[in-house]
Amino acid sequence: MRNVEALWRLFARWPRATLHASPELEWFESPLRFHIYNGVFRTGDLADRPLVIATVRGHFARAGKPFWWVVSPRNRATGLAEELASAGLSHLEDVEGMARSLARPLSRKEIPGVRIEAVRDAAGAQAYRAMQQERWQLSSAVEDDLRDLHRYMDHLPTFTRVIAWLDGKPVGKAASFVDGEVAGIYGVYTRPPARGRGIGEAVTAEAIDAAHRLGARRVVLHSEPKAVRLYERMGFSKVCPLPLYVGSPQAARSGAPNP
Ligand SMILES: CC(C)(COP(=O)(O)OP(=O)(O)OC[C@H]1O[C@@H](n2cnc3c(N)ncnc32)[C@H](O)[C@@H]1OP(=O)(O)O)[C@@H](O)C(=O)NCCC(=O)NCCS
Repeated sequence: MRNVEALWRLFARWPRATLHASPELEWFESPLRFHIYNGVFRTGDLADRPLVIATVRGHFARAGKPFWWVVSPRNRATGLAEELASAGLSHLEDVEGMARSLARPLSRKEIPGVRIEAVRDAAGAQAYRAMQQERWQLSSAVEDDLRDLHRYMDHLPTFTRVIAWLDGKPVGKAASFVDGEVAGIYGVYTRPPARGRGIGEAVTAEAIDAAHRLGARRVVLHSEPKAVRLYERMGFSKVCPLPLYVGSPQAARSGAPNP
């Protein structure tokens, strides 16, 4: 969780994002009207948690933005998940927290016709953005904001975006973020026609290598349930599930549970 928290704090320094931070709660929002770009990433000991949940939910409802709320291992036994559900947030999924030491090297395989490289220029950033839009089915209305976000990312020395190119076309992506000795892997995606030939593994491995060169000794990630086998093959082990709750502005306005 620490890597996720550090990444969102960094993301919140994007001039168009806002970090709301207190010792008890950290959350951020951005102009992007999509849940992964708005959310609560650290919940501490709150005196009146239902009130705080209602306040954050009301804030995003007024802004018209969906948002997420992650239940970390430290929140597990405290009933936070149940309170989020009764406040009308829906349980999106349990992503699997996984980790791997870099003491053992990764094995790398060449994939015929596929070139894997870090984003170094505007064309690379544009390709990465296009795959983000495809992955999350983001409307073209977000393009300008997403472009601006990537301009900010261009200057982050510890954040590496990786792309797989097949015959000059982008087919996969991943990113790594190094915080101290720990690297987090984010945003692994292969375009549907290119799946099943090792591209997901290759972009993840390249993002890990970049993090290793920046001093990382251990890698963490949160995996969709379907991708767990892929990461286990790469030597990752399950650490803990991370339940993810999502609130939509519509549900927040009507008070009804989210679909
Ligand atoms: C997960 C994903 C990146 C794998 O890409 P890929 O290039 O096919 O990966 P590889 O060829 O290296 O490995 C295939 C593995 O992906 C996993 N996988 C297959 N279909 C998947 C799907 N629809 N969603 C998630 N994972 C899938 C399986 O573990 C598969 O392993 P198997 O061959 O033993 O069954 C790709 O399916 C994807 O983009 N899915 C949607 C987004 C996502 O789930 N991202 C993962 C975030 S942690």
